[in-house]
Amino acid sequence: MEEGTVRVGLLGCGTVGAAVVRLLRDHGDDIALRAGCRLEVTRVAVRDASRARDVRLPPGRFTDDPAAVVADPEVDLVCELMGGIEPARTRILEAFAAGKPVVTANKELLANAGKELFDAADASGLDLYFEASVAGGVPLIRPMKESLVGERVRRLLGIVNGTTNYILTEMSERGATFADALERAQELGYAEADPTADVEGFDAAAKCAILASIAFNTRVVAADVYREGIANVSPLDIADARRLGYVVKLLAIAELEDGEVSARVHPAMVPAGHPLASVRDASNAVFLEGDRVGELMFYGPGAGGDATATAVVGDLVSAARHLLRGGHGIGCTCVLDRRMRPMDDTRGQYYLNLHVEDRPGVLAEIADHFGRNGVSIERVWQEGTADEATLVFITHRAQEGAFQKTVQELRELRAVRAVGSVLRVEGEEP
Ligand SMILES: NC(=O)c1ccc[n+]([C@@H]2O[C@H](COP(=O)([O-])OP(=O)(O)OC[C@H]3O[C@@H](n4cnc5c(N)ncnc54)[C@H](OP(=O)(O)O)[C@@H]3O)[C@@H](O)[C@H]2O)c1
Repeated sequence: MEEGTVRVGLLGCGTVGAAVVRLLRDHGDDIALRAGCRLEVTRVAVRDASRARDVRLPPGRFTDDPAAVVADPEVDLVCELMGGIEPARTRILEAFAAGKPVVTANKELLANAGKELFDAADASGLDLYFEASVAGGVPLIRPMKESLVGERVRRLLGIVNGTTNYILTEMSERGATFADALERAQELGYAEADPTADVEGFDAAAKCAILASIAFNTRVVAADVYREGIANVSPLDIADARRLGYVVKLLAIAELEDGEVSARVHPAMVPAGHPLASVRDASNAVFLEGDRVGELMFYGPGAGGDATATAVVGDLVSAARHLLRGGHGIGCTCVLDRRMRPMDDTRGQYYLNLHVEDRPGVLAEIADHFGRNGVSIERVWQEGTADEATLVFITHRAQEGAFQKTVQELRELRAVRAVGSVLRVEGEEP
């Protein structure tokens, strides 16, 4: 290592990678002041090394071979910004084997192969930093791992996918249909041409797994997270929610109850007065509930090259300081082996809207099914037309499995013509 300079090998120079190169150049003096050294990007791996790029680096620094960047003796620190599982996983393991710390923004990789990577980092006594992997530019991982080390987090509720939050905001505030809002999100560059990872909740589930692992000191992987996307949220659901004083959001929820962890991603009605209800457009926010500090909310831009690059550069500075002075940051904190609570055993509150025959005895018949499944009703009211009525229910907190069984039974009742909206209700009014 040249004295006073830590040499960074960049794997990926796309939206985030290019912004990291620019930020290191534009704010180089300030960064050197904090890091105690200069950070210089000496090698960059991309898919197509011949393509012109919006970064000022000598062309000789680019290669299409990420393994060569990791192995290069002129690279001290590896920054993985390619995304996806392979070759990112293999290259990160090679970096640790070569004694080089790693900074990554790759939530998909961490939520699926985190254990292997953290084991390798810890075994070699090297840093693996990943601040940018959840909520982009919002400082969240470090506050949770370090600043809140004395806190016991009970629950976190997060809006961690900007694309779906943008779509739901368009539907709620501008009356757009899901299809129109998705098209607009694609025009603005918020949504990919294939929006599956966002719309079906895969991206949020990976982030939920990472947050739950840190919050509860246990390994939660993407497959442990119950997942429902927003493709079935209808304008009617949104209108019903608004009428009752709620806003529909795609939430990532992680809870610790009786030593068991539940982790889930699904659309939910949030009271309009809850801090998460005012998180609009592509913004992200994570709301934490703890024993001592109480409620905290982290809010800001969850994506975008420049915003995300600030999180990456913060990690690069920490890793560079450790390289120069020795030591390393807090490693893997998944030291417990907590049981994952199956979705059916979680408890929640529910909103249900039924189209029913308007005749005497129907309400009693329906209420009987709720009662037999142990689901108690907090509020019920009827909105009627000549021969058909709409019955609207909000339950008390009930077991998910019991509620779903009730809905299944109601679907089969002759008096029930159709089940309209079924939505979970989350977050208490402050
Ligand atoms: N974009 C955001 O706002 C954001 C926010 C938070 C976290 N992240 C995470 O940051 C990471 C990077 O995202 P991004 O948006 O910057 O992606 P991107 O724009 O698609 O850039 C990916 C870069 O990696 C290179 N690359 C991909 N596969 C490669 C391979 N096999 N070999 C060599 N180079 C390869 C690409 O090369 P070419 O340029 O030649 O195609 C490109 O430079 C992802 O893990 C993402 O989840 C992104």
